[in-house]
Amino acid sequence: RTLRIGLIPGDGIGREVIPAGRRILESLPSSLNLKFSFVDLDAGYETFQKTGTALPDKTVDTLKKECDGALFGAVSSPSTKVAGYSSPIVALRKKLDLYANVRPVKTTAGNSNGKPIDLVIVRENTEDLYVKEERTIEGPNGKVAEAIKRISENASFRISNIAGEIALRRQNIRAASPPLPVTSPWSPSPTSPTCSLRLTVSSVRPRAVLLPPRSSPPSSSRSRSSTPWSTSSSASPSSTMSLSPLTSTVTSSLTGCCCLVGSLGLVPSANVGDGFAIGEPCHGSAPDIEGKGISNPIATIRSVALMLEFLGEEKAAAQIYAAVDGNLDAAQFLTPDMGGKATTQQVLDDVLKRL
Ligand code: NAI
Repeated sequence: RTLRIGLIPGDGIGREVIPAGRRILESLPSSLNLKFSFVDLDAGYETFQKTGTALPDKTVDTLKKECDGALFGAVSSPSTKVAGYSSPIVALRKKLDLYANVRPVKTTAGNSNGKPIDLVIVRENTEDLYVKEERTIEGPNGKVAEAIKRISENASFRISNIAGEIALRRQNIRAASPPLPVTSPWSPSPTSPTCSLRLTVSSVRPRAVLLPPRSSPPSSSRSRSSTPWSTSSSASPSSTMSLSPLTSTVTSSLTGCCCLVGSLGLVPSANVGDGFAIGEPCHGSAPDIEGKGISNPIATIRSVALMLEFLGEEKAAAQIYAAVDGNLDAAQFLTPDMGGKATTQQVLDDVLKRL
């Protein structure tokens, strides 16, 4: 099978880590029978400064017509508002209807402070405040800024579905015995229809097992019909009372972060729609380390694996994850954000050797 991959480095260290991602794809073991072709595409603030648009039509058209998936580095945003500029990745997610932002957060022996973390945050990409319908009006006591927070039934259905499927897939992969729960961080409130709509919709998805947020332990007196986070029929009551192991968290675009495992340089993401996926490290363009050759490529390498997972190449993904875990556990080649002295190239070479 040959996959055509769009490469969008963007700005700053995006241009240092995306080539590392490409090398990983080119170096996969031949036994996997996977081949890749690549197309270089533009987006970002520098593209905006050169061409007047942060996301050229050519980039979107090529992704839609030619590519099976893509890798996106990072983009810089100006610190003050620049007329005509808006984030190309937010626009790209909308144009390709990549409605889920999937963010696995995992410690390994090499980057854990003792307590292991292994969970997936599943963030809705297309609505909530990302609809960007905002305005400033004159109120009785001065200016008031307001924004639309939109939560639709349809988007809630599909984001809950994908979170449920990820939990099930992880359960199969790890052969864990209890049903792995999906949790949602909102507290249900009858006065907040946006929060309660998503919770209610999420709770009725047939394949998702929803649990209450940690701050609101379930009361045994609540009946299923009055509990927006009540469980689906696939989970036994006792398993839903247990908040461990937490594995998949479904949230809107406002919540869901990745600060749990030590460095932004470790955490991958994938923007996923039906039949297309863009791997994207969670970090930004990191101007403070740009050009020093020390940006951590692990977030991008894991994003490559995540993209492959959603393109149906789980075997290849598993081999990349294992090579990265080997690098972190050995702790011989770590970049400075991880307390090491290695360069981007040395970390990449170590992962390639393990692959
Ligand atoms: P940042 O993620 O670029 O950097 C935060 C800190 O983490 C910095 O100290 C940086 O050196 C470090 N860091 C990030 N990635 C690293 C890596 N791979 N290896 C080693 N260290 C790493 O966030 P910041 O500084 O808030 O934003 C910088 C620029 O990036 C801004 O213009 C911002 O708008 C943009 N940004 C873009 C994002 C995207 O494209 N998805 C996401 C976040 C910020």
